[in-house]
Amino acid sequence: MAEVRLDNVTRQFGSVVAVNAINLTIADGEFVALLGPSGCGKTTTLRLIAGLEQADGGHMYIGDRDVTNLPPRDRDIAMVFQDYALYPHMTILDNIGYPLKVRGTPRAELTKRVTEVAERLQIGNLLQRRPGQLSGGQQQRASVARAVVYHAQVFLFDEPLSNLDAKLRVEARAFLKRLQHELDVTAVYVTHDQAEAMALADRIAVMNHGRIMQLGAPLEVYRRPQNLFVASFIGSPPMNLLPCRVDLGARRLVFAGGAALEMTGMMERLPASLRDGEMVTLGIRPEHITIRETAGASTLPVKVYVTEPLGGESLVITQMGDLLISIRLFQDEPPSLPDAVWLELNMTHTFLYGAEGELMR
Ligand SMILES: Nc1ncnc2c1ncn2[C@@H]1O[C@H](COP(=O)(O)OP(=O)(O)OP(=O)(O)O)[C@@H](O)[C@H]1O
Ligand SMILES: [Mg+2]
Repeated sequence: MAEVRLDNVTRQFGSVVAVNAINLTIADGEFVALLGPSGCGKTTTLRLIAGLEQADGGHMYIGDRDVTNLPPRDRDIAMVFQDYALYPHMTILDNIGYPLKVRGTPRAELTKRVTEVAERLQIGNLLQRRPGQLSGGQQQRASVARAVVYHAQVFLFDEPLSNLDAKLRVEARAFLKRLQHELDVTAVYVTHDQAEAMALADRIAVMNHGRIMQLGAPLEVYRRPQNLFVASFIGSPPMNLLPCRVDLGARRLVFAGGAALEMTGMMERLPASLRDGEMVTLGIRPEHITIRETAGASTLPVKVYVTEPLGGESLVITQMGDLLISIRLFQDEPPSLPDAVWLELNMTHTFLYGAEGELMR
């Protein structure tokens, strides 16, 4: 059993609370991604699990062992560092084989296993070189290979693919996912690339300011962001977030500049606590908006700002006052549109966030 459990774990650096009372249970064999902006505490969380960082509060468990005070070598963990941390004087073969060597694996067996992993990561021809003779992306793959060559109970990855070009990145990520499923190990994977987190992880923990803002399966987090932070972070482009005022009497949401939308389709599920005149944020993903060339009963008047062909789909970015509203169309070529158009929102796909950023419905 290699369940990893963080119980109220905190780590402070002076006045900075890098990890703020985190509770997180990663099941045996589960792949969890820590996703969040720079400085949100991802690396610190990983280093705490590895034992490279001492917690200021809370406890950590691997399986049924309390590892809070155990040194890294007693935790049976393999880690890929953000800065590779290869030994400069050793060949790539010896670097990757190091975890096997310290465990007394015979040389022939070591070479065989290193070669296998290196080939799958497309660095099989570089084994006799030293780290200084490799590109950043090649060093990164060597560092991944070293972590996975020995089958530890828990893998920790800190942005292991960030230096690879788009094509290699997709290949390496598929390799990691296969490997993790084949070996059935527990993995924690840090990234600020949401596509990578969505593709790899069984569950994603979205972090901000040392806290977990939401934990869930990738599509769960995408389909139902629990707060404004997650809503603004997940999705490319992210959800449109439109501040507005509630007019309960007229059953409308009123936007700056006076445009309004009927709350039809939302009304029966509106929270009872919603007050007349309250300021809220209406959230809607770019794929749930239709562009009209004439005004409808409940449409928002906007100006077309730019259009972007993305290959396979296109984006229309429109403007209402200070707000930019993106619309995703599943067509190669953006339509040619007049300057002024109207937006029809599919209200069953909208979210309402309250003043504290909390999801209301
Ligand atoms: N050794 C340290 N001393 C002082 N402050 C630190 C130290 N390590 C991290 N911090 C601070 O703790 C916070 C979290 O840092 P951390 O490295 O965990 O972020 P991160 O999410 O991994 O960011 P990135 O995506 O940029 O790698 C940051 O504000 C950082 O400046
Ligand atoms: Mg980091």
